[in-house]
Amino acid sequence: RTRRPLIAGNWKMNGLKADALALASGIADGVRQTGWTDREVLICPPATLVMAVAEAVKGSGVLVGGQNCHAKPSGAHTGDIAAEMLRDCGAACVIVGHSERRTDCGETDADVRAKAEAACRAGLLPIVCIGETLAEQEAGMTFSVLANQLKGSVPAGATAAKLVVAYEPVWAIGTGKTPTIAEVAAAHAHIRKVLDGLMPDAAGVRLLYGGSVKASNAAELLAAGDVDGALVGGASLKVDEFLAIAKAV
Ligand code: G3H
Repeated sequence: RTRRPLIAGNWKMNGLKADALALASGIADGVRQTGWTDREVLICPPATLVMAVAEAVKGSGVLVGGQNCHAKPSGAHTGDIAAEMLRDCGAACVIVGHSERRTDCGETDADVRAKAEAACRAGLLPIVCIGETLAEQEAGMTFSVLANQLKGSVPAGATAAKLVVAYEPVWAIGTGKTPTIAEVAAAHAHIRKVLDGLMPDAAGVRLLYGGSVKASNAAELLAAGDVDGALVGGASLKVDEFLAIAKAV
């Protein structure tokens, strides 16, 4: 592999202190035992737990990330969290533009781009999420949707070292359904081609697949062409399951 695989766990709105810290420590112990240097493992807890999780995984090599950030560095934005605040709590990355935020909070491509740019300014690696809905897929619009989302949400002046893209078909999230391996490979090849027109070193950008990844299908999905890792939701909430996915790379 030319790109270092990244296995990212998105805990979404799950986790109270005690269980979350046990989960984080379990993952950290597992990663420590393997001594992996050929892949990166990231966990993205709710913002309330970023600092404690960062402390719990310290020294293990496990990275910690946020699930969202505001586009501004500070100011009168009640309830929001700036990228720099996540960084200050020990985060190295942040997910932006997850389909749940695009749907629940009405985030647009322009919002996602502004957040990704804010993440870069704060020294965080943004994981920009894109993906088509079921209706869009059924209408044969997958490739055009992905191209439009990329053109609208990839940060200005993006470079491979400062960008990860996660392809998550909305209909595959939390449903147990996944695209075929050929469909994943085709979508990723398309994404890389579009990125090639947007930035100088698109060949170096890591592309993650997300949507119903679990231990039993991880090896196959992670071996699909142009797949450099996974963004894992539900299956990232169990130590053994998540470690098995990380091992499957
Ligand atoms: O961010 C993660 C994705 O939305 C995938 O969630 O693995 O529960 O389908 P899932």
